[in-house]
Amino acid sequence: MELSERLKVIKSLVPNGARLLDIGSDHAFLPIALLKDGAISEAVVTDINKGPLERGRENFARLFPGAKVSFVLSDGFDKVEQGAADVASICGMGGLLISDILRRAGQKAKEMLLLLQPMSHQNELRRYLWSNGFCIEDELFAVEGDKAYVIFKVRFCGTQTEFSYSDLYLGKHRPQTAEFKLYLKKQLVAAEKRLLGLRHRGDDTSQECALIDEIKKIGF
Ligand SMILES: C[S@@+](CC[C@H](N)C(=O)[O-])C[C@H]1O[C@@H](n2cnc3c(N)ncnc32)[C@H](O)[C@@H]1O
Repeated sequence: MELSERLKVIKSLVPNGARLLDIGSDHAFLPIALLKDGAISEAVVTDINKGPLERGRENFARLFPGAKVSFVLSDGFDKVEQGAADVASICGMGGLLISDILRRAGQKAKEMLLLLQPMSHQNELRRYLWSNGFCIEDELFAVEGDKAYVIFKVRFCGTQTEFSYSDLYLGKHRPQTAEFKLYLKKQLVAAEKRLLGLRHRGDDTSQECALIDEIKKIGF
């Protein structure tokens, strides 16, 4: 089983020996790879839907029978016991859904290292995290084909973080890597599209123009 570049980066962020909670696991490739490598000791695999949860169970039976893993049908953290894991990964979902899962998780999410990989609305997820006492300790980028993915390493720190409009779209960690440069390129295309919409409606364009200037200044 070869992990995708996206899952490889997420895997690299899981501390050795941790107990992993993989929310919305579907195929369960991430916990299977970590347990097979001996990088983690145990895992809780969850999904809101029975089909994906069964797919994960079948993949474990096929690829790593006898692993220390439990399967929980759960909407977000709902059916997960407090203290069941040290690290929670919530990957491959929209940023708004991830924000909603964290909002409803309460204390459970505040006690874990969070690895978040939003497929969309990264700006809204950053806004939620910074406004609700979560600190984004790092952002890593992965490329597959012409797609660029961002992965947030997050902990609850209890203090709000100030941010600019550009921070919402680019984050505050801006590594000079090829992966980040592709992410920037995608952000530029999206910003230019929003700018056209703002101009068309006669709305204020100053923030969008500042974001575009900032992207061009960083360069790619
Ligand atoms: C695209 S898959 C991502 C699989 C894997 N995490 C990855 O990144 O490759 C998204 C999964 O999230 C599940 N899901 C969606 N909303 C959820 C929720 N509120 N709680 C738990 N799982 C959810 C879906 O059923 C689906 O299996």
